[in-house]
Amino acid sequence: MAFSFNFDLQIKTDEVVHQDRTETDQGLEAKRMDLTDTKEKVYPEKDKEAKEHTPPRDCQSLLEDAVCETFTLGTLPPIHFLNESVFERTVSELFDGEDILSRTAAQNTDLISGVYEGGLKVWECTYDLLEHLEVEGEAFSGKRVLDLGCGAGLLGILALKRGAREVHFQDYNSTVIERLTLPNVLLNCEDDDDDDDDDDDDDDDDGGGGAGKGDEEREKDGCPPSKMRATGPPQNPQLDRCRFFSGSWTTFLTQMLHDNDPPPKYDLIMTSETIYNADYYPALHEVFRRLLDQGGLVYLATKAHYFGVGGGLYLFQNYVEQKDVFKMKCLKDVEQGLQRHVVALSFKKPDQ
Ligand SMILES: C[S@@+](CC[C@H](N)C(=O)[O-])C[C@H]1O[C@@H](n2cnc3c(N)ncnc32)[C@H](O)[C@@H]1O
Repeated sequence: MAFSFNFDLQIKTDEVVHQDRTETDQGLEAKRMDLTDTKEKVYPEKDKEAKEHTPPRDCQSLLEDAVCETFTLGTLPPIHFLNESVFERTVSELFDGEDILSRTAAQNTDLISGVYEGGLKVWECTYDLLEHLEVEGEAFSGKRVLDLGCGAGLLGILALKRGAREVHFQDYNSTVIERLTLPNVLLNCEDDDDDDDDDDDDDDDDGGGGAGKGDEEREKDGCPPSKMRATGPPQNPQLDRCRFFSGSWTTFLTQMLHDNDPPPKYDLIMTSETIYNADYYPALHEVFRRLLDQGGLVYLATKAHYFGVGGGLYLFQNYVEQKDVFKMKCLKDVEQGLQRHVVALSFKKPDQ
């Protein structure tokens, strides 16, 4: 799987890259208002309207002609997702209300800031976090989980398969949610929910809800078991545990705070390759601050530095330290190629 960093930036990133970190953060802060008052917000982040996406009743139509692949690793349940290259070739023929497909194709880019934030492909830090979760384990069972900046949604799908009570998927682009995240979740949903509501000790979980031998063969071929047919919300208890949102983090947060009484508090927020743009840090940090449960954990997987964009772990760490709300712990370092890291954030003290 190829990963590239062909960013098309419509923001002035040079300032961010070359300035002293403290100066940069102060400069960014000056441009923003605090989200504590959620009525009025001014962020450089483009305030793309938040929208909740309800799976269509005929979910099966989303999987027509789907060609999928399966990620397997050790004791993790297999995670099925649309094959990236087939998806890229075929998706442009589908309706795309945001027109991001033709624009990214025309500009040959992985990201158009404020237009398309990269969710149509699986980024490598997602696999780092999956690896960490495989080695260290995580008790998803019964938890409320947010896959923030989900893209293909592999992290949220793992949580779902490992028995999370509720999983919310959020991506900037509605096209990503409708054309990629939702179909991927469906590929992993079963008619029968028996095996997936289990705990994390079930190392034999085949993710297929007891898929038979024929299904195993299908899985080897990169296809989900035949039993995994999404049949629509009423027949699909796993899908009932999911919600799907698009929009910027600012508007997503506003929607969650205003439309839910009380607003959801997540036990886990998982987010991968989402700190490449320092302009978005206040919104991201505010989502963590307002929506993470007091005893909750943020899993964040990232590259050390995003060349050409300017963000990365050290800049974000600096921002987090200045805000003094979360403590950050390093969980995994990957040294080969571009340095990558998995870190965890938790509240320093209650009620912040
Ligand atoms: C590079 S993609 C990573 C996708 C996925 N997490 C992965 O690792 O494969 C970055 C994701 O962050 C999200 N994102 C970035 N900036 C955002 C913003 N300001 N508001 C909402 N979402 C944003 C987008 O949804 C996008 O899918």
